[in-house]
Amino acid sequence: MALLPILHYPDPRLHTRASPVTVVDDRIRQLAEDMAETMYAAPGVGLAATQVNVHERLVVIDVSEDKSGLMVLINPEILARDGEQTCEEGCLSVPGIYDVVTRAERVRVRALNTRGEAFEFDADGLLAVCVQHEIDHLDGKVFVEYLSQLKQNRIKTKLAKKARITA
Ligand code: NI
Repeated sequence: MALLPILHYPDPRLHTRASPVTVVDDRIRQLAEDMAETMYAAPGVGLAATQVNVHERLVVIDVSEDKSGLMVLINPEILARDGEQTCEEGCLSVPGIYDVVTRAERVRVRALNTRGEAFEFDADGLLAVCVQHEIDHLDGKVFVEYLSQLKQNRIKTKLAKKARITA
């Protein structure tokens, strides 16, 4: 087990489009374990491999309050989306910044589990937000890109200052 360093916006590596996982092997299972540990330690409710500078399609999510709901999604795809919800989001790659984003209320998702088996599930509410947020990361998109250009510039300035102070 290991804690992995998390890339911070506006790091250009966060805009990399991740490649599909071709073989679900021990390397991928270890990455999923390390990502889960990193997410819980942060703490956060989701983490995409992109955020730890691994550009393969793998995310971990746990929206439970007691760390009992870990989901590992390999090559996740949204098969269907329905409705609309607006939720205040944050991101481990954009520390201290929260803002509202409108996304689908319900999604149907297909992914592989850590045994390489395909499964499907329906998500709504916070889980649906989280799945959409994490899949965006795999496509190189950070949630602040849904905000106005003015807000994005302010966030970049704020995080650049913070990086200088903590460096
Ligand atoms: Ni995020």
